[in-house]
Amino acid sequence: MKLILLGAPGAGKGTVAKLLTELDGSVQISTGDILRGAVQAGTELGKKAEAYMKAGDLVPDELIMDIMEKRLQEPDCEKGFLLDGFPRTIPQAEALEKLLDKLGIELDMVVNIDVPRDVILDRLTTRRTCSNPECQAIYNVKSNPPKVEGVCDKCGSPVVQREDETEEAISHRLETYNEKTAPLVGFYEKKGKLLTVSATSSDEVINAIKARLAA
Ligand code: AP5
Repeated sequence: MKLILLGAPGAGKGTVAKLLTELDGSVQISTGDILRGAVQAGTELGKKAEAYMKAGDLVPDELIMDIMEKRLQEPDCEKGFLLDGFPRTIPQAEALEKLLDKLGIELDMVVNIDVPRDVILDRLTTRRTCSNPECQAIYNVKSNPPKVEGVCDKCGSPVVQREDETEEAISHRLETYNEKTAPLVGFYEKKGKLLTVSATSSDEVINAIKARLAA
């Protein structure tokens, strides 16, 4: 499947993407995970992205498009991909459209995961993430804690709170989402590609996607 997952920070894009990869071998492409990996590795990209991320601002569109142009042409994308956290602005969506046209790829749909703000705030303050850039498994101290506190079930690395999870950065990320990313809902609705799922259960989101793919 070839999907875009849209939704506010904490809506569960990463969680749903990881579950979808188990269905048909489609790969999760999370620009947030790629950027966090680059920051941790201290690469040029990481150095350019770090301050924006820490403050809860978006990284400039040109940097993101450079990453995605290369990533979408890697062989593991042939089976399908789940775009998690990209596109995030209208210019990114327009550039993606041109890129997909050039590569001869058609999207199946754009899934907008719609979750109430109070649930989002609760999830973001209780999320924990594996610190290993190759893993980045997602946990939650309330709904999905690791078996051993502070240790990743999958790779044994420390499980930590992300740097953009301060109260200030979270509230700025939500404002940035409303201003820059929420307009993508209308953008994809006009193109007839949008599926909005208002649900706090990841299973409900997955089932709605499966039903639309089968229709
Ligand atoms: P990114 O990593 O993409 O962060 P985000 O969009 O803010 O999304 P999150 O990862 O916070 O949330 P999510 O929706 O994936 O939720 P999750 O599944 O983890 O981006 C980080 C930064 O990178 C940006 O601020 C920006 O600076 C930069 N960036 C990235 N992409 C960019 C782009 N395209 N352009 C420019 N800049 C870019 O779930 C959240 C929590 O809830 C977890 O604890 C999880 O366990 C829990 N949870 C999830 N689902 C459920 C459920 N159903 N029930 C109970 N708990 C649940």
